[in-house]
Amino acid sequence: MNITFRLNGETLALRDVAPTTTLLDWLREERGLTGTKEGCNEGDCGACSVMVTDAQGAQALNACILFLPQLDGKSVRTVEGIAAPDGTLHPVQQAMIAHHGSQCGFCTPGFIVTMATAHLNGARDHDTQLAGNLCRCTGYAPIIRAAEAAQAAAVPDHMQDRPPEGTISPPDHEGFRPKSGDMLAAWYQENPQATLIAGATDVGLWVTKSFRDLGKVAFLNGCDDLRGIVQTAEGLRIGAMTTLSELESAMAPLYPSFAAMIRRYGSVQVRNAATIGGNIANGSPIGDGPPALIALGARLHLRRGDARRDMLLEDFFLEYGKQDRQPGEFVEAITVPNQVDRLKCYKLSKRFDQDISAVCGCLSITVSENRVEAARIAFGGMAGTPKRASQTEAALIGSEWREATIRAAMQMMRADFQPLSDMRASADYRMQTAQNMLLRYWHEDQGASANVLEVRP
Ligand SMILES: Cc1cc2nc3c(=O)[nH]c(=O)nc-3n(C[C@H](O)[C@H](O)[C@H](O)COP(=O)(O)OP(=O)(O)OC[C@H]3O[C@@H](n4cnc5c(N)ncnc54)[C@H](O)[C@@H]3O)c2cc1C
Ligand code: FES
Ligand code: FES
Repeated sequence: MNITFRLNGETLALRDVAPTTTLLDWLREERGLTGTKEGCNEGDCGACSVMVTDAQGAQALNACILFLPQLDGKSVRTVEGIAAPDGTLHPVQQAMIAHHGSQCGFCTPGFIVTMATAHLNGARDHDTQLAGNLCRCTGYAPIIRAAEAAQAAAVPDHMQDRPPEGTISPPDHEGFRPKSGDMLAAWYQENPQATLIAGATDVGLWVTKSFRDLGKVAFLNGCDDLRGIVQTAEGLRIGAMTTLSELESAMAPLYPSFAAMIRRYGSVQVRNAATIGGNIANGSPIGDGPPALIALGARLHLRRGDARRDMLLEDFFLEYGKQDRQPGEFVEAITVPNQVDRLKCYKLSKRFDQDISAVCGCLSITVSENRVEAARIAFGGMAGTPKRASQTEAALIGSEWREATIRAAMQMMRADFQPLSDMRASADYRMQTAQNMLLRYWHEDQGASANVLEVRP
């Protein structure tokens, strides 16, 4: 495939790029830019962080799970491009030295790039910004102090990247980067065996960890019409290519609990790449997006060629590894119906940041005149698919809104789910914590604070 992008200020036009070449490998092996480090090679450690600028602005991304064609029409800045061309250090570099933010230094280039990107964007929530960068020896206090010390400094001029014009490249035997949903629909119908690549936070690992040959691929990130969120008569229509970062911002005023959970979805780098369409299409039983969207009553819009159909999101997940998707059909969007916010999302994982859920419970219970009028309760991690707790819901609907009702409904979860034991949690633990999430919902509804971030000694 042919691509055009800017690297540390220099415009490059690459021809006949193998589509699944990662930016990290290319930087290190083809360009000798070895400042960008390979730690985990699976999006977990941030050692490979780079700054990528497009029309939407600058973002930190993990280069290890970023394929070169995803960069078409964008600007990339690596750690080698963070100091000014005359060698003057960037304010975050100076602050890292002044505050002793580096020991062995392996993680430092990744930290510098993430910090410089946050600095450019005026982000001061340093714990969040740096949750995707792993440091094993310095410890975070000096690094956070450095980020704070640099935050008020002016952004150096050279950090303001302008993305170049992208390449119009026709489909070839290796793949395609369509510019619209229509182009994708026509091509995918003709090439139903191809692999679709959205943010590549799953697909990237198929290449870097499983060494899979993906065959023909289509990169969806050129399809601007599959991205973004609009209010329609039916509700909020969320394009499949909307990233988790964009979704977090859109959900914050409407469903703050959903936004708070997205804040714990991967890291800044992962959320900047991962799309909600990919999170649904991968059919994972432990994805965090589907339980929340199911609890909101979301509808899924699928497209194959010119044919479109939609369904309740829960109906898409048939069984483990199997979704109701035909060859050549793709996720176009999701619609969340307008409603009064009653949603609570509870993500349970071993670590607060950057961890996959053991159980993800999302509950929306509507109460009228002290009776449960409606209940939508969906879980991840409790079955082979994201799944509604139908019998628990039935036990709640029509009953008085009081603790005894909750405790009785909690027992019905045993009829809804037979969870598995695995490395994340035992079956018993999953069942008990899922039941307790319903109890937590009740207590929070009564005004109790159960948020660990709000509990203070
Ligand atoms: C470090 C790390 C942390 C993570 N943390 C979390 C987490 O906390 N919670 C969580 O839920 N997930 C997490 N994930 C998993 C991953 O980020 C999500 O599943 C993500 O949303 C996938 O989206 P994507 O755009 O990257 O998909 P891709 O990797 O591009 O694609 C995923 C799958 O969906 C298909 N696909 C993509 N878009 C479409 C479409 N529009 N139509 C049809 N098929 C499509 C692809 O062909 C592929 O099969 C994590 C991943 C990493 C690497
Ligand atoms: S090498 Fe660890 S996130 Fe890329
Ligand atoms: S300085 Fe050694 S890993 Fe961070």
